[in-house]
Amino acid sequence: MTVDKIIIKTITERDIPFCMELKNAAGWNQLEQDWKRLIELSPLGCFTAQLHDGTIVGTATTVSFEDKFGWIGMVLVDPNQRKMGIGTALMNACIEYLKPRVKVIRLDATPMGKPVYERLGFKDEYILARYKGTGSSFPATTVKKISSKELPNILAFDKPIFGADRSNWLSRVFQESPDNCFFIEESGKIQGFIMSHPGTKAWYAGPLTANDLTSAEKLLKAVLSSLPGKEIFIDPLTNNKTFTGLLQNVGFTEERILTRMFLGENLYPGTPEKVFCIAGPEAG
Ligand SMILES: CC(C)(COP(=O)(O)OP(=O)(O)OC[C@H]1O[C@@H](n2cnc3c(N)ncnc32)[C@H](O)[C@@H]1OP(=O)(O)O)[C@@H](O)C(=O)NCCC(=O)NCCS
Repeated sequence: MTVDKIIIKTITERDIPFCMELKNAAGWNQLEQDWKRLIELSPLGCFTAQLHDGTIVGTATTVSFEDKFGWIGMVLVDPNQRKMGIGTALMNACIEYLKPRVKVIRLDATPMGKPVYERLGFKDEYILARYKGTGSSFPATTVKKISSKELPNILAFDKPIFGADRSNWLSRVFQESPDNCFFIEESGKIQGFIMSHPGTKAWYAGPLTANDLTSAEKLLKAVLSSLPGKEIFIDPLTNNKTFTGLLQNVGFTEERILTRMFLGENLYPGTPEKVFCIAGPEAG
């Protein structure tokens, strides 16, 4: 087969079971609801690569944050159909979709994806690591559960740290798992927050954004306490050695590396020193 034998189409909800098969083949953690969230937010910007008989052999998704930057995620190709240009064709569809809509395109690359993205012009921003651990109880602190009342303040706190408004993404994650999302405030000012949501293999904790390490530690421990005995994935920035050291102290171990990359001029990097953990490779 050559790449001209595939058709790029937008993903529909009917495609999700086939997308899940590709996702499972790669050993990833997303649930059907994660695909649904992406399709809802970007109905014309999420793609499948299909053979002429309709077999889905690849996927890639986008989500846009204002007109500032777009995120490419879920870049997956059937293990039997790799190294034929399908991944690049899907990337080109995403880039073509995002280019008129945003100023920068960003993504989190696995070691397999990185050379494909480099050839398309993506540059390294920083390194992330996937850590895996188990929830366990810690003494209660001043951390509180997020409610709909505080959500607007939390989203406003997040915006300069992430680099763009991502209310579209975070509001949905919060609504899906409100019992596992926490914030911390001091004198009425938000100091940080953490969200988490379930996955096929483990719970995923993130984003975790905070003004300082002490707040980040309290927020992390609140999530661990809310998920006793459950496996948890989390993706911190590797240059924050104090925080990754803290993760190791609570029993987390590093599983793999991801590289955050960008295409164009990186105009909206946010405040990485306050990003303790990302929201997920599919959306930043
Ligand atoms: C990463 C991934 C999506 C790439 O998909 P792909 O369809 O193999 O990508 P392409 O075929 O466009 O490019 C892959 C390689 O094949 C080469 N290639 C493309 N067409 C080719 C052809 N006709 N003949 C020989 N080689 C070819 C490319 O030059 C590229 O080489 P490189 O690996 O040395 O950079 C795929 O490996 C995958 O699904 N991996 C698991 C999930 C994953 O890690 N996804 C990335 C998330 S960030």
